[in-house]
Formats: sequence, C-alpha cells, structure tokens
Amino acid sequence: MGTVLQVAGLRTHFQSAEHRITAVDGVSFEIAQNEVLGLVGESGSGKSITALSILKLLPSNGVSSADVMQFQGDSLLTASPQRLREIRGKEIGLIFQNPLAALNPVLTVGEQLLETLTLRGGLSKREAKEKAIALLDQVNIPDAARRLGDYPHQFSLGMCQRIVIALTLSLTPKLLIADEPTASLDVTVQAQVMALLKDLQRQHQMSMLLISHDLGVIAQNCDRVMVMYLGRIVEIGTPEDIFLTPKHPYTQALIRAIPATDPRQKQVFDALKGEIPSPLAIPSGCRFHTRCPMAEPRCRQEDPALRACGKAGHLAACVLAGGF
Ligand SMILES: Nc1ncnc2c1ncn2[C@@H]1O[C@H](COP(=O)(O)OP(=O)(O)OP(=O)(O)O)[C@@H](O)[C@H]1O
Ligand SMILES: [Mg+2]
Repeated sequence: MGTVLQVAGLRTHFQSAEHRITAVDGVSFEIAQNEVLGLVGESGSGKSITALSILKLLPSNGVSSADVMQFQGDSLLTASPQRLREIRGKEIGLIFQNPLAALNPVLTVGEQLLETLTLRGGLSKREAKEKAIALLDQVNIPDAARRLGDYPHQFSLGMCQRIVIALTLSLTPKLLIADEPTASLDVTVQAQVMALLKDLQRQHQMSMLLISHDLGVIAQNCDRVMVMYLGRIVEIGTPEDIFLTPKHPYTQALIRAIPATDPRQKQVFDALKGEIPSPLAIPSGCRFHTRCPMAEPRCRQEDPALRACGKAGHLAACVLAGGF
C-alpha cells in the first residue's frame, strides 16, 4: 500500500514579544492509503497544531518547518499558495470539533453543498443538486431533498456535523484530517457520528488522521495510534500494542486513567500526577520525567528518541522501554 502522507521532523513554534512556545517538536509519521492513524494526548500536547501545520493553516504567530512533508506527488513545503488551496478541502478534507464554524449561517445547506459541488467539484447545477441529495442521504439526514432548503440552525448539532461530513466528502478527498470530530456532540450521538465517519472512510478508501483525547474512540477506529506528549510523539503502534502492551510510562498512565466501564469498579485513578508542564518550561532530558512514576536519575538528562520496543512498528521514546 502506498504512502499518502509522509511527515518528518515537523516543528512548530509560536513567537511573541516575550517568549517562544514550541508546540510541535520534531514529529514524524506516515499515513498509508486507506489507513486510519490516531493521534492522542492530553490537552495542549500539540495535536491540533500538528494538523494545522500540515495544511499551513496556523495562527499568524505560528511558524513551522519540516524536513519532509510529502502528500502523494506534492511536497507541501514547496507547493504554491494556489496549489495548497486546491489541496485543502479537495484532496485533504478537514473536519473540526465545531460544525457551526464550518457552515455558513446565512446560506441554506443546499446552497452550501451546491456551491462546493459546482465551484470546486466542477458539476453542473443539475448534477450538483442530485449529488447533494445523495450526499445528505448518505449521512442519514432524513427527507434530504426537502431539507436542502433549511439553514444550519434548523438542524441539531449532530446533524450539522453530518452535513459537514457530507460537504467534506463531496470532493472525495484522499486524506481526511478529523480533529475531535465528535467532541462537541451529545454523548448519545457521538458514537453514531463516529461510526458514520468510519463507514464512509472505509467506503471511499480514504486515509484518515483521527485526533481525539478519547481513548475509546481511538481504540475502536484506528489501524495505528500515536501518543503525543508536550509536542513529541512518545509512542506509536497498533491499537493492540498501545492498549494491551503499552511501553511508555505516559501511555501506561493514560490507559490507567480510563474509568472502568463497570460502575461498581469505578475508581478515580491518580495515574497522571500533576499538570502537564507549561510549553514555556519544557523539562530537561525526557520531558515526561517530572510526572513519571518510573523516572530514574538519567531521565533528567537523556532525551530518548523513538525506538523499536517490541513487535515490528511498535516504537516508544523511553530509556526503560528497551528493544526486547
Ligand atoms: N496561537 C497560539 N499562540 C501561542 N501558543 C499557541 C497558539 N495556539 C496553540 N498554542 C499552544 O500550542 C500548544 C499545542 O496546542 P494544541 O492546540 O495543538 O493542543 P491540543 O493537543 O490540540 O489540545 P486539545 O486537546 O485541548 O485540543 C499549546 O501549548 C497551546 O497553548
Ligand atoms: Mg486540539
């Protein structure tokens, strides 16, 4: 299977008059055709900034660089602004947490779908209308033909996210970047929307970078998983590697922090001690040593790189997760 996206040595920082925050600090990964790659980590670990850096959609004070950023035949590092605009949306789809930010409140859903399908998708008006109805059907919006005339506020939030998914998939992107796609929804609709997204990913054979801090969502939907801590990938592997034989103490702590599903066993785990350090004061050596229950003196000095730690493709950045 071919590689759809290859990223190596991605670094992103934010510069203000007083300080410089390094949000992403040397991140490398690949996504294969048809693969769902998960990205997990606590709030502030750099997940969204990683995604935005790939598409050069950073806030204006953000600066990013990389050794490699290859999307299919194009280097995103050297692509012209015009080529990048083409790639965004059309070849790499984006879905964020808040569907209302992606929809125009003063246009009907039909107008938005038709605009995308005619201007960006190159369809005639008639073809676009048929396609729009089919797309809404596909994302389970009942009575699709009539609902084309409704405005976003006339739909529930879960339906709005389904509409955003329809809009995004209308251009049949090769890669979908979904950043907490269900986080703003009611718990009851979260699973339905995620199942829909996964279903469409499979049908369209898309690759997906799925960002979430919900380990359950990641475990259920990904082919491989990356765990991020303070701007670095600290572990990568299959869901079995990550959830059954986690090697990095941070991953182990994250997993222990999942509440038990049996309410009788429900315990509050004190697995992750303390707050994530400020990105303004990244600890020396291994950046997790300040919260690590297994830290040794050398962890304050040695900054471990990702290395093989078990099955092929399972990597962890910890001196204790040696290659066996
Ligand atoms: N515009 C900005 N200026 C300065 N720092 C920023 C800016 N945007 C993000 N950051 C910092 O970059 C770091 C990474 O942020 P990011 O949004 O990628 O985290 P995240 O992993 O997506 O968190 P969450 O789970 O809360 O979405 C954080 O320390 C954040 O404060
Ligand atoms: Mg985020």
